[in-house]
Amino acid sequence: MNRDDPRISASAREVQPFLAMEIFERSQELESQGVDVVHLEVGEPDFNVPGCVDRAIREAVEAGKTHYTHSLGMMDLREEVAAYYGRRYGVAIDAGRVLITGGTSGALVLLMALLLEAGDEVLLPNPGYACYDNFVRTFHGKPTGYEVPASTGFHYDPVLIGKLISPRSKAILVNSPSNPTAAVQDHSTLEEIAALGVPVISDEIYHGLEYGAADTRAVSMLEVTDECFVVDGLSKRYAMTGLRVGWLIAPQSLVAPLQRLQQNLFVCASSLAQTAAIAALREADEDLERMTEQYSKRREVLYNGLEALGFPIPCKPMGAYYIFAQADHLDSDSLRLAKRILEEAHVGVTPGIDFGSRAEGWLRFSFANNIDNINEALRRLEKWLKT
Ligand SMILES: Cc1ncc(COP(=O)(O)O)c(C=O)c1O
Repeated sequence: MNRDDPRISASAREVQPFLAMEIFERSQELESQGVDVVHLEVGEPDFNVPGCVDRAIREAVEAGKTHYTHSLGMMDLREEVAAYYGRRYGVAIDAGRVLITGGTSGALVLLMALLLEAGDEVLLPNPGYACYDNFVRTFHGKPTGYEVPASTGFHYDPVLIGKLISPRSKAILVNSPSNPTAAVQDHSTLEEIAALGVPVISDEIYHGLEYGAADTRAVSMLEVTDECFVVDGLSKRYAMTGLRVGWLIAPQSLVAPLQRLQQNLFVCASSLAQTAAIAALREADEDLERMTEQYSKRREVLYNGLEALGFPIPCKPMGAYYIFAQADHLDSDSLRLAKRILEEAHVGVTPGIDFGSRAEGWLRFSFANNIDNINEALRRLEKWLKT
């Protein structure tokens, strides 16, 4: 893109490229030349959708259920989402507060459009998901990173967050389990953040992919306060990335303005994906269990392997499917390092710098790949480190 092109708005110009894509696209180029690359840079499950999801989509197509739905989403799905909060977290959510969206990303677009005037700030985790800053920038807001200290195993520090609050702060975004750190925040930390008096947006997309004991499962912000925004979706836990379906739970009084935005910006979420989502929430618990079991085994292999190769890892993944490892002993420039690892060892990894200034010098390794491939990647890295 020519950033000086006068047709491009200032806000679009500020949107940063996703560097992981540079690695992915180069790896595809190598593959087209016959090079075998092991992909540990990917942020999506390698599993196919659960059988019930597959069936539900086929049946919906056959029955012609391919039309627009209500802008807030199919009532059956909104009720299913509300029931899920009762089942999993023991909180009563009225289905009237649930908006079905085009993935978690669609929910974040609606929220930024709702909350931001030009120059308003959103407090974002650093390290944090690469796209958050760009959602804020697109709506003329100012992303303000709060440090998530590696020294505490990437636990949020409400005092550090509180110091950044200004009259322009419109929201604090939290993400637990986190991409890229895989840390899970506890109830009292979330409570302290909610008490800071700024609306909280909680991105809970990795809920359900957790590896601790049953009593260490991720806490929903809705267990802490009703006055928050929760965004979530089926991309990760049900391996439904390409279906583009998620949801937003908002305080009741803000549903109407969000609905107006949804009607104008998107009309509604995909009808097929909504049907698929109903099937997943009703019938895919066993699939989730099966996939989580696999992730858990892969996590052990990758974690032990990377530790043995000398990568410091402050947080053994508690959720999601990432390992965030320090790598500045190899190169302080994480993009250059990721490129070298790809070209020389034929392993794709994501450069830390994608996740914010505090992530420079780090690498993200994904275990959304099978154990044979993870072992092969470890062998290649070991050989490469010795050269
Ligand atoms: C933390 C986080 N939030 C949101 C998303 C986007 O998810 P969706 O597919 O639901 O739009 C991702 C995707 O990688 C993510 O890692």
